[in-house]
Amino acid sequence: MKIFLDSANIEEIREAKSLGAIEGVTTNPSLLAHEKGDWKKIVRQICREVEGPVNVEVIAQDRTGMLSEARDLVKLAPNVVVKIPVTIEGLKAIAELRERGVETNATLVFSPNQALLAAKAGASYVSPFIGRLDDIGQDGVQVLQDIMTIFRNYDLPTQVLAASIRHTNHFFQVSLLGADCATVPLAVLLDLAKHPLTDIGLAKFMDDWAGQQKK
Ligand code: G3P
Repeated sequence: MKIFLDSANIEEIREAKSLGAIEGVTTNPSLLAHEKGDWKKIVRQICREVEGPVNVEVIAQDRTGMLSEARDLVKLAPNVVVKIPVTIEGLKAIAELRERGVETNATLVFSPNQALLAAKAGASYVSPFIGRLDDIGQDGVQVLQDIMTIFRNYDLPTQVLAASIRHTNHFFQVSLLGADCATVPLAVLLDLAKHPLTDIGLAKFMDDWAGQQKK
């Protein structure tokens, strides 16, 4: 499973990169809006920092505007992947961008039907937001599992990118299901490494070693 960092913050990206764990980055308008400075400069900086895909979302909500923005986004760096919301206009833009050879990530996916349409339109990735489904009392992991089943039924090449990962159990569950990618905030990424028995075991080793040195 490829791990992407869900962040537009260069320090967070550098921290995640130092773990050797991430193969890409996903941003969204909220994450970019949180950062100070020119968003295009921030995107270029992220694209220099990370070799893999850097996902940047369009703002326009009509096909024509999305296509225009996508053209500008891919000029920022060769590893930009264009995020397009899975609306009717977004599906039209995804289909056109496939014809132009532009990689897209269908985002704000909340149902298997949306994911299937995005795959048929030629999206490179679909991003089911599992945490936001949980937030409204639905089962986000089950939606992802259903998407995976449908994609496997028809051997669809579109990659499933698990998004809106709220905690380590989400990460575990989507990796167990075989999601192609998962995008996680830095806090969740760091939590993946943590276990109380590791801390307890290390403390015991150090205590025993210190005791041995005193003999
Ligand atoms: O950036 C896409 C997605 O991972 C954001 O999810 O629910 O944490 O805002 P959320």
